[in-house]
Amino acid sequence: MARADSFRRCTMVKRREFLTAALLAGGTAARGDSVRATPLKADFWGTQYYDDKEQQQIMDVLSSRQPFRWYGSGNTPPLKVATFEKEFAARIETRYALAVTSGTAALQCAMAALRIGPGDEVILPAWTWHSCYSAIVLAGALPVFAEIDESFNIDPSDLERHITPQTKLLLAAHLQGNPCDMDRLLPIAKRHGIRVLEDCAQSVGASYKGRPVGSLGDIAIYSLQLNKTITAGEGGAVVTNDPVLFEGASRFHDVGVFRALHEQAAGGHRMDPFAGTNFRMNEFSGGVLLAQLHKLDTIVRDARTNARRVYDGIRDLPNLKLRRLPDPDGELGAGIYFGFRSTEHRERFAAAMKNANVPVAPPVGSVLLPTQEYIEQKCTVHPAWPSFTSARGRSIQYGAVCCPRTIDILNRYAGVLMDPKFSKRDTDDIVAAIRSVYRTIGWN
Ligand SMILES: Cc1ncc(COP(=O)(O)O)c(C=O)c1O
Repeated sequence: MARADSFRRCTMVKRREFLTAALLAGGTAARGDSVRATPLKADFWGTQYYDDKEQQQIMDVLSSRQPFRWYGSGNTPPLKVATFEKEFAARIETRYALAVTSGTAALQCAMAALRIGPGDEVILPAWTWHSCYSAIVLAGALPVFAEIDESFNIDPSDLERHITPQTKLLLAAHLQGNPCDMDRLLPIAKRHGIRVLEDCAQSVGASYKGRPVGSLGDIAIYSLQLNKTITAGEGGAVVTNDPVLFEGASRFHDVGVFRALHEQAAGGHRMDPFAGTNFRMNEFSGGVLLAQLHKLDTIVRDARTNARRVYDGIRDLPNLKLRRLPDPDGELGAGIYFGFRSTEHRERFAAAMKNANVPVAPPVGSVLLPTQEYIEQKCTVHPAWPSFTSARGRSIQYGAVCCPRTIDILNRYAGVLMDPKFSKRDTDDIVAAIRSVYRTIGWN
């Protein structure tokens, strides 16, 4: 039995090696031939790098019996979260960082820091995560959707028609590791006196023209949840260079209090307390995230190396339409996406890639917000919620009508989800599958 298994495995490996070699050499494998024995599947990123460093951090907190970030029973103050904040700010090249419990919490802190409230309008992309919309609504402000372009990020050319005298903020989400076109977005925001919140939840470690994402706008947020570059299961962060925004975010995350450590970092306080909530990070998360932060550059390097191998392997194919990358050197390489002339063409590509055991998927990780029923119906926890009681709030229309180009783009793209731990063989398989399918289904 064992020998039969090993024979089968051996034959499979040989067949796979033959097919891969044939396809890489531009060979003649027929449509539908598998380039690998089992379907390629990307795993979560940060947890694959867990080792004794994260373990030690957890053990430190357990043995010190100091799980709370601000104080404990030991002789020395707990410092895991505080150290994470300090090192995270340095890595993002901003003056301040605030650790919180999630990216969603970080968005709510940013809204509070920016004093977004009833009567204000916030522009966000039609394709992003629920939390972007909910943070605006929970602040009592009005979400206004703009289209995405073929980078899957907010389309700078669709911005100005949405700007009104009430527009206070642009939420620029760098989605799936791909930075927004900041050279075009920032001048528009500046011209209209609008603040910029960078949502880097899906792009921790990415950069734009040499600068870390999150260091370009007025304030930025990160998610450190399982699907993100580094993770403690849940977690988030807010960064800014502005001491007033930092104080506002810090107070909001901690029931209105500005703790001594943060006050010292900001060089004093500049505002009175106000009603806040509790989004404080605990020391276990802080410790794990500190260990993960020390690996961020490695994870980003591995992810980019793998993406580059695939891009290099298909670069010569004429007419191949890739997702737009405003800064190809700065993106993370979280997914390699291709555009097609129609949904039907995309589906033929997807079926052939599935047969090759290199499955692809339509853009993932975000949702088409305006067509979510609770958004289309403007559902809130209370009928008098201020977002939708004004004339503008009542008249604004969500649903498919407000984002036809976004829908069209999402219906025509599909891609391979990448993993920093993919082997050279895995990336060769991706290239082989794409080259094979390219020849058989045609491209554009
Ligand atoms: C763009 C974006 N913003 C915010 C969030 C919220 O992060 P969290 O899940 O940590 O609350 C996510 C989560 O996936 C996201 O993708």
